[in-house]
Amino acid sequence: MRIGIAFDLKKKPLANLPEDIYEELDSIETVEAIESVLNSAGHETVRLGGGKNFLFSILKTHVDIVFNIAEGWGARSREAHIPSVLELLGTPYTGSDPLTLSLTLDKGMAKRVVMSAGVLTPRFSVIKDAKSINHVQELNFPLIVKPLWEGSSIGIRRDSKVQNFKELKRKLEWLINSYGEPTLVEEFIEGEEVTVGVIGNENPYVIGMMMIKPRIGDPRDFIYSLEVKRNWREEVEYFSPPPLSEQALSELSRSALAAYEALSCRDVARLDFRMGRDGKPYFLEANPLPGLNPETGDLPIMIEKEGIPYAKLILSILDNALRRNRLTAKSRACV
Ligand SMILES: Nc1ncnc2c1ncn2[C@@H]1O[C@H](COP(=O)(O)OP(=O)(O)OP(=O)(O)O)[C@@H](O)[C@H]1O
Ligand SMILES: [Mg+2]
Repeated sequence: MRIGIAFDLKKKPLANLPEDIYEELDSIETVEAIESVLNSAGHETVRLGGGKNFLFSILKTHVDIVFNIAEGWGARSREAHIPSVLELLGTPYTGSDPLTLSLTLDKGMAKRVVMSAGVLTPRFSVIKDAKSINHVQELNFPLIVKPLWEGSSIGIRRDSKVQNFKELKRKLEWLINSYGEPTLVEEFIEGEEVTVGVIGNENPYVIGMMMIKPRIGDPRDFIYSLEVKRNWREEVEYFSPPPLSEQALSELSRSALAAYEALSCRDVARLDFRMGRDGKPYFLEANPLPGLNPETGDLPIMIEKEGIPYAKLILSILDNALRRNRLTAKSRACV
């Protein structure tokens, strides 16, 4: 089978942009790792790139399916750009569709949808400018302040947890000025952090769960911030499966699957939770384009700890996309 790979590579931000603005974008090592798995399974791969280059390459290259890891550039629909083009052309691709990719990137929208499916999520408010700070009156401090539609902890720092209105105002002004997008202010959940990997379509299943624990500082203040993600080897320990009660694990699994379904995720996603004081998991956000770097991606780290090879993860994503599109490697190879 001939498989195109859509991706956006990291680059150095222009001086007027925040230094973490391209944090979500991939490294060439991730593309090479995916290629290597697909080639070893007998597939031919074609690098399609992202953005405008992708438009040129997809129009002149025949592929049976696209393995999509492109994060895109722009506002909350950036992850939907490549899938929208592929839908226009009728070309199958791995992962979620444009609606889900946009819905999940906007954390406020995603939270409203999972709430409607009975999944718990911290109470929150979306603030468009620092003058509307009063909209958070109903919320209880401590709060966390995050950009509304980013990932990879873009705009989330060690000091993103705020204890009072003065700190909140300072953080809101910094975020709105730096990133030029609304902010999500939500109640800070001080319990353990667990990320859950889900695979599949008709019968999605939890492929693994991983607790992320700080090596330093009070765990109740822990934020898996930009600084921590960049320095993860020193600052955090990963436990997979998480050392939690059977009941907590089963509630995590149930909540992750309910959120996956409510958000109409396809093929794969990683969903982030914190455990509340009531012992229940609280949904933070969903990642239907989870980082797939074999060394640094949370999902690859998690499955490796569960004893599942990286190649199996990549081939499961492909296999789910092929079956969803009623394609098989064999039938297409004969065409
Ligand atoms: N309500 C909350 N309570 C406690 N911690 C939180 C909360 N929201 C976010 N965090 C902390 O901030 C981190 C980053 O938040 P979040 O997962 O929303 O950002 P992201 O940039 O989308 O992450 P990803 O890298 O998974 O795409 C979380 O992993 C968690 O440690
Ligand atoms: Mg996250």
